[in-house]
Amino acid sequence: MERTLSIIKPDGVHRGLIGEVVNMLEQNDLNIVAMKMLYMTKPQAEGFYAVHRERPFFESLTDFMSSGPVVVMVLEGENVIARYRDLMGATNYKEAADGTIRQKFATDIEKNVVHGSDAPETASFEISYFFNRFEIIR
Ligand code: CMP
Repeated sequence: MERTLSIIKPDGVHRGLIGEVVNMLEQNDLNIVAMKMLYMTKPQAEGFYAVHRERPFFESLTDFMSSGPVVVMVLEGENVIARYRDLMGATNYKEAADGTIRQKFATDIEKNVVHGSDAPETASFEISYFFNRFEIIR
């Protein structure tokens, strides 16, 4: 069993895509075991994306991620990190495979609708950034 963090980013929430994304998760057996809506401050977004601090897009990314509400979820299942990354599609929506969330809905490399953890260590950090253990269904 593995867990991963999913975020529906401000563009996805603003464009009314919460239902579409949740539906795709459910249809693909990506089990939601925790979910909340929140509005990150700029420092919270900077902390979340601290690994990208040196990247040229860091400022813009953290502005964007603190520009409106997001939906954060914990997904659980076998091989869920890779399975959710497959469902999201490539970071750059232009390279995302057909039928993926980003291919269907993303408009921009930054405004790419969803986020997903990329490895077990990042998943553990990212889940604990938003959820305590009592908020995750067992
Ligand atoms: P995400 O999966 O949340 O991880 C880092 C985010 O940075 C990425 O999705 C994009 O929203 C954003 N980003 C903006 N520009 C780039 C870029 N050139 N390469 C990778 N990620 C980028």
